[in-house]
Amino acid sequence: MEHVSDPEAVDDALAGLWPPFGLRVTCGPLVLRPMRDADFPEVLAVVHSGIHAPDAMPFYFPWTDAQGPTMERQFVQYHWRSRAELSPERWSLDLGVWHEGRFVGVQGVSTKEFLVTRTGETGSWLGQEFQGRGIGTLMRQAICVLCLDHLDFAEVTSGAFVDNPASLAVSRKVGYRRNGEERLARKGAVATNVHLLLTSEDLVRPPHAVEVAGVAAFRELVGLDAADSQGRAT
Ligand SMILES: CC(C)(COP(=O)(O)OP(=O)(O)OC[C@H]1O[C@@H](n2cnc3c(N)ncnc32)[C@H](O)[C@@H]1OP(=O)(O)O)[C@@H](O)C(=O)NCCC(=O)NCCS
Repeated sequence: MEHVSDPEAVDDALAGLWPPFGLRVTCGPLVLRPMRDADFPEVLAVVHSGIHAPDAMPFYFPWTDAQGPTMERQFVQYHWRSRAELSPERWSLDLGVWHEGRFVGVQGVSTKEFLVTRTGETGSWLGQEFQGRGIGTLMRQAICVLCLDHLDFAEVTSGAFVDNPASLAVSRKVGYRRNGEERLARKGAVATNVHLLLTSEDLVRPPHAVEVAGVAAFRELVGLDAADSQGRAT
């Protein structure tokens, strides 16, 4: 590989090496794209400023309970692990979300055996200062368009604890239907988790066009399309 030093050329070269880095979804004021290592300081500053009230726990895995450098290391390890373990059998896309150029949160989707199941679960968070302004709804609509229109999902699922009205409201507004409940252990106590299910027909599309770049190479990476003899997506 040719040596490159210009930062933009380095970005392009990295996207050539690792197709998720070339993915980009634009929806009105939002840009969603996989986070790179250089983004982590900005991302962690938002995590430190707070995602939820200290006595609440909206996540299945209570990653926000960790503090300081321990939380930071666990956060970056989670993202490195998710890159390292990506395969057609199991993958997740955690897209950083930038609103008018400012990092505000993460919108992800993860799946197992996707080539068979064609289903995956969305999950998200925003820094508290960015909540309640419609961004959570818009970023969920954007990733659902990516999944249903560009990545051949037959359905998208989500889940939220009954004491998370904002997440449940976002799911309802985007068109997900309730699909049962589950009793989960949350920090040692039982908590009811609501299952949600979305199909293309029910998707409430965002009020802006959704532009998707870099999807061909990602589809090839996760086995949706065959590569040509040069290893490029066809
Ligand atoms: C869940 C989350 C991503 C939603 O993003 P957001 O930008 O705050 O959501 P929006 O502003 O797009 O919409 C929130 C909706 O919830 C509603 N809502 C918020 N709090 C509510 C409450 N206590 N009771 C009822 N509805 C509530 C709002 O009224 C709004 O609906 P409306 O536009 O019809 O009025 C964000 O709140 C968040 O990051 N929360 C902490 C992490 C988290 O819970 N992640 C999801 C785990 S399942």
